[in-house]
Amino acid sequence: MSIANHLENYLAYLKKNPFLGSPDNLYQPMNYIMNLGGKRIRPVLCLIGAESCGGSADEALNVAHAIEIFHNFSLVHDDIMDRADQRRGLPTVHKKWNEPTAILAGDNLLVKAYESILAYSGPNKNEILTLFSRTATEVCEGQQDDMDFAERNEVSEADYLHMIQNKTAVLLGCSLASGALTAGAKADVVNKMYQFAIALGMSFQLMDDYLDSFGTSNKVGKVIGGDIMEGKKTWLYIKSLELDASATHQWFDELKGTSRAEAVIKGWKSWGLDSMILEKSTEYENNAKVLMQELSDLGINTEGLNELMLFLKDRTH
Ligand code: IPE
Ligand code: IPE
Ligand code: MG
Ligand code: MG
Ligand code: MG
Repeated sequence: MSIANHLENYLAYLKKNPFLGSPDNLYQPMNYIMNLGGKRIRPVLCLIGAESCGGSADEALNVAHAIEIFHNFSLVHDDIMDRADQRRGLPTVHKKWNEPTAILAGDNLLVKAYESILAYSGPNKNEILTLFSRTATEVCEGQQDDMDFAERNEVSEADYLHMIQNKTAVLLGCSLASGALTAGAKADVVNKMYQFAIALGMSFQLMDDYLDSFGTSNKVGKVIGGDIMEGKKTWLYIKSLELDASATHQWFDELKGTSRAEAVIKGWKSWGLDSMILEKSTEYENNAKVLMQELSDLGINTEGLNELMLFLKDRTH
């Protein structure tokens, strides 16, 4: 099945399973964020994982859904933490409603994610739940590092890579590996699937950081320069310090808001940091390709993975 088919099946499942309940101010924001669009790469990864290991993508749907719910929960809270006003081209939940509502909508989404795993009744349910819980904890660890690093001066490239592995890559790993687990795949396959998606996730977050500074606002759907305005220690910032510490300090100490973002983006472009971060992203993509070949050697059909990798390479949002 192509990724377009997986996406279509997941979207049909999503449509059939809205969150119902009252009060409206709890349930409307939950449905709002879930239906705001998004690339849906995590549920698609899960369905690809199931199918490429000889299982049924349909039987993995509630696990795929659980992961997409968790992802959306993390975005609702992330947008509060990052003081972001826009997500997928529309107002974030805390902007459209308010922060207490966004906190609670996020909390209840997390509960609904677990309920969706509870609804799954295929192989390896306990393993999936264990992987999901470990992943959720790692995402919290990554998110706390992300916040702490913004307040810290000394952040190394290794610190950054550890942080993005936790905040982003592990959920992609969990998506693909849990799909493989629904198909009853063997441990060596599950592990390699996980490693592949981690590499893809690292490449993905580097691209996310690229788009945050160098993307086109109406495509990215977020305010461009958000990371710079919030003082995030992205790979771009770390390299900027290496290339010209005094210019970097000047921008970040003396400017704020959009004037800081404008000066920094202009400076970084003139140094070629935009192509440098894309090269770094490609490095991880190449690691993913090696792992994909190893999966193929294990007898796994890697067509879906390859298709998804190509889709992510060209993404503008
Ligand atoms: C955004 O994820 C948060 C990150 C981990 C970078 P996506 O870029 O997958 O967001 P949507 O779901 O497609 O909007
Ligand atoms: C978000 O990272 C990671 C999680 C939500 C766990 P970012 O803060 O970079 O994501 P965006 O750019 O807001 O989508
Ligand atoms: Mg954010
Ligand atoms: Mg964030
Ligand atoms: Mg980002």
